[in-house]
Amino acid sequence: MDNKIFVMDHPLIQHKLTFLRDKNTGTKEFRELVSEIATLMCYEATRDLPLMDVEIETPMCKATTKVIAGRKLAFVPILRAGLGMVDGMLQLVPSAKVGHIGLYRDHETHLPVEYYNKLPPDIEERDVIVLDPMLATGGSAIDAITIVKRSNPKSIKFLCIIAAPEGLKALSEAHPDVQIYCAAVDEKLNENCYILPGLGDAGDRIFGTK
Ligand code: URA
Repeated sequence: MDNKIFVMDHPLIQHKLTFLRDKNTGTKEFRELVSEIATLMCYEATRDLPLMDVEIETPMCKATTKVIAGRKLAFVPILRAGLGMVDGMLQLVPSAKVGHIGLYRDHETHLPVEYYNKLPPDIEERDVIVLDPMLATGGSAIDAITIVKRSNPKSIKFLCIIAAPEGLKALSEAHPDVQIYCAAVDEKLNENCYILPGLGDAGDRIFGTK
């Protein structure tokens, strides 16, 4: 495994995560917290963007300063819970393109069924960040990244809010080239593949469907 797994333990993220987990947090606040946490995580996940020098003039003198070296990003939320992270990511990188992947596992064959796949046409020129708030078994993340890889992006990172150890292991083994960012590694999965202690069903809590 050559993955790097980054656990973002910044106090602001950890503080917001506590309220995200709380079962008494309502839909509106939950949605806002997911977005805010995504913004903070985006800041850290883009730390390695390359810079280049530019010449400018301040009101005082000429200066050589830095700008991002023309790197293009694409965010790819896994439907549907990943959608909750998109606006927060775009706060920091408004020029990023957004692709979408929707998939589910066929109950009989256990094979992933892709019901939606729309990626930016120039994805080969882009660094992709795949988004899903919860990394549980790793199945969806593995399948979504396999789909994105077919389009040959420059690089892929995976960003989730809460990861289960089982999901981290499975994703690391399936895609050792993908860096994984999370805000917490929880204890384990329960018998229904929900993360413990987790936060429940992220999609239901973002969209108020429960
Ligand atoms: N997906 C969720 O939304 N929650 C979990 O705990 C696991 C997967």
